[in-house]
Amino acid sequence: MRLDKMIGNAGLDTRKNIKRMAKKGAIRVNGEIVKDTSIKVDPNKDEVYYMDIFVDYFENIYLMMNKPSGYLSATEDPEPTVIDLLDDFYQNLDLSIGGRLDKDTTGLLLLSTDGKFIHRVTSPNSNIFKTYEVETRDKIDPSLVEIFEKGVYIKEDDYTARPAKLKILEDKKAIVKVSEGKFHLVKRLFSNNGNEVVSLKRLAIGELFLDSHLDYGEYRELSEKEVDLFRA
Ligand code: URA
Repeated sequence: MRLDKMIGNAGLDTRKNIKRMAKKGAIRVNGEIVKDTSIKVDPNKDEVYYMDIFVDYFENIYLMMNKPSGYLSATEDPEPTVIDLLDDFYQNLDLSIGGRLDKDTTGLLLLSTDGKFIHRVTSPNSNIFKTYEVETRDKIDPSLVEIFEKGVYIKEDDYTARPAKLKILEDKKAIVKVSEGKFHLVKRLFSNNGNEVVSLKRLAIGELFLDSHLDYGEYRELSEKEVDLFRA
């Protein structure tokens, strides 16, 4: 792993500052001052100090799950939660959920020990579009494409939603993209326009797509490349 990444991941400073401070001799690897932050270190073997602080390396865990219906996106609840679907090793970690889904919603759910990552995934300021496949009770009126694009007034919250993208696939099937995580948002976009969502599945968060090899209730760790999709 790169030296600047190891120090940055420990939350001690920004990559830019780490590089600047390195030039002033602020980094020691196994007792030696190192000024080049691009060198590779082994976090499990090499002893790294940044401004005399020991860099305590902890590898964060990032998971994607294909959430089944009937489970809560919560870490603790008397009802079954997505955590119950994990092996013991993962259940014992302090995982947070990035972008909760309703109990009856299925599809891509992210879980991680990395609070900053979860914040980036969920914060409306990140402006990350979430993509859903929707099935509705009634035929989807084509006029909704423009109505969604303008921003739907959500009466339950007395709030106008941000522009959402609607692509109608079949009479009662569509793809919807929203950039906020408001409670029941996709369902309310339709219910506030006289229709009803009968099935909802999240296919993607930003550029990260649900792995088609994952069955409902299955999960896997993200690759480094996938985690990097959410770095600023
Ligand atoms: N919008 C909803 O209505 N429900 C979800 O679970 C996610 C988005």
